[in-house]
Amino acid sequence: MFEEKHLLTSPVLMDVMKIEKSLSFDDILLIPRNTDLKREDIDTSSRLTEDIELKVPILSSPMDKVTGSKMTIAMAREGGLGIIHRNIDIKNQVGMVKNVKRSENWIIRNPYTVSPGIKARKAKDIMKEKDISGLPVIKDGKLIGIVTKRDLRFETELQKDVEEVMTSELITADSDTDIKKAKSILNKNKIEKLPLVDDEGRLQGLITVRDIEKKKQHPQATMDENGQLMVGSAVGPDEFNRVEALVDAGVDLIVIDTAHGNSKDVIKATEDINESFDVNLMAGNIATADGARALIDAGADSLRVGIGPGSICTTRIVSGIGVPQITAILNVYNEVKDEDVSVVADGGIRYSGDAAKAFACGADSVMLGNMLAGTEEAPGRIVFRSGRKYKEYRGMASISALEKREKNRYGQHFEKREDYVPEGVEGLVPYKGTVSEVLHQMIGGLQSSMGHLGARNIEEMRQREVYKITEGGKKESHPHNVEITEDTPNYHWEG
Ligand code: XMP
Repeated sequence: MFEEKHLLTSPVLMDVMKIEKSLSFDDILLIPRNTDLKREDIDTSSRLTEDIELKVPILSSPMDKVTGSKMTIAMAREGGLGIIHRNIDIKNQVGMVKNVKRSENWIIRNPYTVSPGIKARKAKDIMKEKDISGLPVIKDGKLIGIVTKRDLRFETELQKDVEEVMTSELITADSDTDIKKAKSILNKNKIEKLPLVDDEGRLQGLITVRDIEKKKQHPQATMDENGQLMVGSAVGPDEFNRVEALVDAGVDLIVIDTAHGNSKDVIKATEDINESFDVNLMAGNIATADGARALIDAGADSLRVGIGPGSICTTRIVSGIGVPQITAILNVYNEVKDEDVSVVADGGIRYSGDAAKAFACGADSVMLGNMLAGTEEAPGRIVFRSGRKYKEYRGMASISALEKREKNRYGQHFEKREDYVPEGVEGLVPYKGTVSEVLHQMIGGLQSSMGHLGARNIEEMRQREVYKITEGGKKESHPHNVEITEDTPNYHWEG
């Protein structure tokens, strides 16, 4: 793809150095093609790894103001994938993974339970705190009843022991009952909960109508074979114990999250994790063909591409290092196109059109920080300024993020603030509503692009030719000669 190499022929530098031109999102436009495609023919799904297929090929970045468990749940429900950040201790990160895994299920394998002797009031409190509507009651390891919110509607019941208020005549099913059979039992008996038990009456799981209903609302969701939402988590290259804990908690994808993936410790970590764990593995960040080759050979299933394009990054300015993002994607795609490895374009995406350009140049999915940081589900605080609503967003190499943890992505920890050498900034982004609204616009824009290109799927988007545009072309592309009087959800002027 894009055969031409733009070698500059500076007579001074020619003998000592090869200087190549590079491209970023604003430098190119995709060329429309003849097509008879209808919107319903378009399929935006994409493979991230052998086990993870995304209907919406968008990931949320592992940054502490972007991805916690709420973001991850929202992303997976919409058909994308959230990657939980690592600027936090292992216990809390594991807790977030468990929250996601518990949020939706066909079968809840380890439901919360109570013993018969506790007070009904306590059971009610547990249900409220965990946002569940019933608790199996266990005595001597065996299921003896269920106490539900309905059992505890009246204040007078709350003083009693659970044993006195629970429903003890239960309809149960075998532990290997599949979802189809479970639905028919629930339906036939007009019940809301179906406990699964083994031959000795020990609780093996719980199927609820509420969980089945939830699934219907999100037909696109990214799910594992148990009907649980999928979740990714970031780790550092020297954090084997973190990987172990996350894998135990059921994480679906480990992301080795570093600023420079083409380095000895990241390559070694990729090899070690690949050898020791049966888990999908993404490694990065890289921006060159040799970086891609090193991580593929080490066993990565997916490559995270981007050195310095992010909206909060100052790496290129502070260190003078980086590769403009379209060139970075092309570098990696050209190296991996015949391999069973996916390419994730990470950073610098401001509009749906940028994502379309990334796909056309070889990305299999895109990773967003800025575009999701302003959503309801992002963990950042809401801030009001001049009557407008914003959310906090910061680079993981900004001073405040570096200060937060000893082992950060950038390997810095100091006592004094001024000793840090940050490679990121912190600031505010406009409040954007929900993840669902943002992804709706992103996918709508992508479908529009695919329609113009006559591409039924992401693979067919790959371009042999694009136009490199001038400043004039860029100016013409944005609204001009008009005072915009009403904002649109998918466009704002970046300046
Ligand atoms: P966007 O443009 O979506 O980019 O906000 C998010 C990506 O930026 C990277 N990242 C950083 N890069 N300094 C950097 O040079 C930083 O402080 C920093 N924090 C995040 C990261 O790849 C993320 O996904």
